[in-house]
Amino acid sequence: MKAVVLAAGLGTRFRSEKPKVLHEILGKPMLWYILSTVKGGGIEDIAIVVGHGAQEVKETFGEDYAYFLQENPKGGTADAVLASVDWWRNDDDYLLIINGDSPLVSSETLKNMQRFLFMVEEYEKVKLGGVVLTSVLQDPTGYGRVLKEEGTDRIIKIVEEKDATAQERNIREVNGGVYILYIPYLLEALFKIKPSERTGELYLTDVIGYMTGKGYEVRSFMASDPTEIVGVNTRWELSFAENILRLKLIKYWAQRGVTFHIPETVWIEPDVSLERNVEIFPNVHLRGKTKIGRNAVIETGAVIEDSEVGESAVVEPYSVIRNSVVEEGARVGPHAHVRDGSRIGKGSHVGNFVEVKKSALGEGVRAKHLAYIGDAVLEDDVNIGAGVVTANYDGRKKHKTYIGRGAFIGSNSLLIAPIRVGNMSYVAGGSVVSKDVPDGSLAVERARLRIVEGKGRKLLEG
Ligand code: UD1
Ligand code: MG
Repeated sequence: MKAVVLAAGLGTRFRSEKPKVLHEILGKPMLWYILSTVKGGGIEDIAIVVGHGAQEVKETFGEDYAYFLQENPKGGTADAVLASVDWWRNDDDYLLIINGDSPLVSSETLKNMQRFLFMVEEYEKVKLGGVVLTSVLQDPTGYGRVLKEEGTDRIIKIVEEKDATAQERNIREVNGGVYILYIPYLLEALFKIKPSERTGELYLTDVIGYMTGKGYEVRSFMASDPTEIVGVNTRWELSFAENILRLKLIKYWAQRGVTFHIPETVWIEPDVSLERNVEIFPNVHLRGKTKIGRNAVIETGAVIEDSEVGESAVVEPYSVIRNSVVEEGARVGPHAHVRDGSRIGKGSHVGNFVEVKKSALGEGVRAKHLAYIGDAVLEDDVNIGAGVVTANYDGRKKHKTYIGRGAFIGSNSLLIAPIRVGNMSYVAGGSVVSKDVPDGSLAVERARLRIVEGKGRKLLEG
């Protein structure tokens, strides 16, 4: 079976330059979810009908899909399907058609729709015109209403809200915008239906009414979770859909042994993965391809993006970790910033107001307060005092710092890169180190301290 995704609409209600389907839900374009769902539903041949912002959509999703341009941006959903007609018209098969603004439909539901179709044909021995995904909503406003033969799942027609009578508007079963339709019947219907008198659009929903009128049976398949059919037509609905998806992801991980405190405040993206017994505190943001290992604790306000946090590591409050690895048992924060391909070795501790950029820290390194470590390699058991800075930039280029195993860098020292501090070397606090320090040496650079007795009081008392 092939699938056609409708993504050519103007998205007028979004008030946006950017195509609606590229607006993001948890860090991924809305259309990404639909494409994943379709692929997860076992369909590989996928076409996207594009219109408004066609180029941008193509650039975002690339060569894996066929693209068809809907010339008339106000043509309507059936006109959009027609834009792809030559791609499927000769198949003696069903076609999946799915709205590009229904990001919450699950792969499971698509599979169940296909199973349902198969079962009806197999056991009831009827050739179906198709199956439409529906749901019963508390508030059906804005959706097409599904009229059925009483007490059956046979659809009579779908009426768009704008065209519905007051009585039809009271129907709470709505069209979810996912259709599996038999191609020969669909083809016939598409060329027969007329544009809506009210809007001039050609409605895909009219195809259903046409088919059933011809005696081609179309059945409704009700989504097991009514939120799956949520259509995103406004930015507020985007927020709503994002919220549902976020809570679903959180629930998914909670069922796999992760604790979330105040889950309604936690942001988690679909490519994040969490091992058992992780504990997530409020206001945490987990982004991109982040992985959190077993027993790790992520404290309040931490932002972690495209990073790995190892087993039993602790990320203390308000730390930011990007494109980096925090190994087993390490501690980061509170208020630390680890970024750009850094690695914090096993059991190391990067404390408050410490920034680590593009640096590799070995095991048992301590940099507990107020430091900048950039473009550096720190071997095991290095101690970095408060206020230490690696001066990695000379105004033109970045340079590297190397600190050997067990070295001690005293507070407020400045290491001017490129520089190498040997194993078991000792840099005295407050030194500006501009030459390499051999293994086991002391480096101290500081003006002689003068003590003038009695002078202090004199200055203070005038
Ligand atoms: C549509 C359905 C409605 C259903 C709802 C579910 C029709 C006529 N109505 O309404 O019954 O309850 O979805 O969410 O189909 N599109 C195009 N070209 C167009 C118009 C739309 O490609 O000319 C695309 C849009 O980009 C969108 C999808 O089709 O992804 C649905 O269009 P939209 O305008 O959002 O239809 P709804 O009013 O939501
Ligand atoms: Mg819509």
